[in-house]
Amino acid sequence: MAPALEFTSLTKEYRSFPGARRVRALEDFTLQVEAGEIFGFLGPNGAGKSTAIHLAMGFMRPTRGGGRMLGAPFGHAPTRRRVGFLAENVALYHRRAEFLVRFYGGLNGMSGSDLAKRARDVLQVVGLQDHSNRNVGKFSRGMLQRVGLAQALVNDPDLLILDEPTSALDPLARVAVRELLLTARQAGKTVFLSSHLLSEVELVCDRVAVLHRGRLVRMGRTADLLESLGETEIVARGIAATVFPGAVARDGVVRFSVAPAAQRAAFERIWSLGGEIVSLNPVRRSLEEVFLEVTGTGESSSREGVA
Ligand SMILES: Nc1ncnc2c1ncn2[C@@H]1O[C@H](COP(=O)(O)OP(=O)(O)O)[C@@H](O)[C@H]1O
Ligand SMILES: [Mg+2]
Repeated sequence: MAPALEFTSLTKEYRSFPGARRVRALEDFTLQVEAGEIFGFLGPNGAGKSTAIHLAMGFMRPTRGGGRMLGAPFGHAPTRRRVGFLAENVALYHRRAEFLVRFYGGLNGMSGSDLAKRARDVLQVVGLQDHSNRNVGKFSRGMLQRVGLAQALVNDPDLLILDEPTSALDPLARVAVRELLLTARQAGKTVFLSSHLLSEVELVCDRVAVLHRGRLVRMGRTADLLESLGETEIVARGIAATVFPGAVARDGVVRFSVAPAAQRAAFERIWSLGGEIVSLNPVRRSLEEVFLEVTGTGESSSREGVA
């Protein structure tokens, strides 16, 4: 099956005004998102996530490269109807929530009682059923994000693209969004969500990509990424805890963790001391830690002066 979303050597440079220095927000970015997966698009603020998403949505043109969404080139209007999109900063007309959701459904070619029912259903899914007749002008940021989500779901999209979908949500609503994504996957949909909140992503995503300074720095299955970068806990017998820094002796065994590169040396040390290895267990780390490792500081940064 063709990928649901495909970025091919995509580069985007911004120039705020003629003569200004260019900012390279995305550099030779290539990624394939398979149909039916929940894909996490990670990176600190300023990494280029929204830029990549806006290029996919056809809101602007790339400097170089391109891509395909549900098999069609970026910017293909009819394909857009099969995609649900939630912007990072939800901006909505000051109208009743239900009106807005119906309005977006209408843009996607829906109408009549089907649309009315669907609008009510999605507002219920995001927990706004009791607010559907209120003007969103009075909504909190979290509520706006939920209207945005309802709007993204109204056309029952095959591909859901969510830019920082939980940034304004409280913990309970975050759990609800997670469930919503899992339900979407069960129904065979593809989800591409960006986040700088790594702990959110690792719970639901099948695969993740890490973007840093406009470049892809890591990509893989969430579990593999965590384990390949993780330390291993070694449990040994017959050695003193003092042999390894941070080792703890309990119940007749010694436990300590080592980085992948130090594993072999640790085994040899244990054996040379006449000890025995009881077990090895990968220490699962949070993506937060992985992320700090691949990006150095985890601080946001932009590239300047490439012109
Ligand atoms: N319209 C724009 N004009 C100039 N620079 C921009 C524009 N939009 C984004 N940038 C810059 O591009 C880089 C990537 O931004 P963005 O894609 O929003 O990152 P993210 O979504 O990962 O936080 C940042 O350095 C940002 O300042
Ligand atoms: Mg962004």
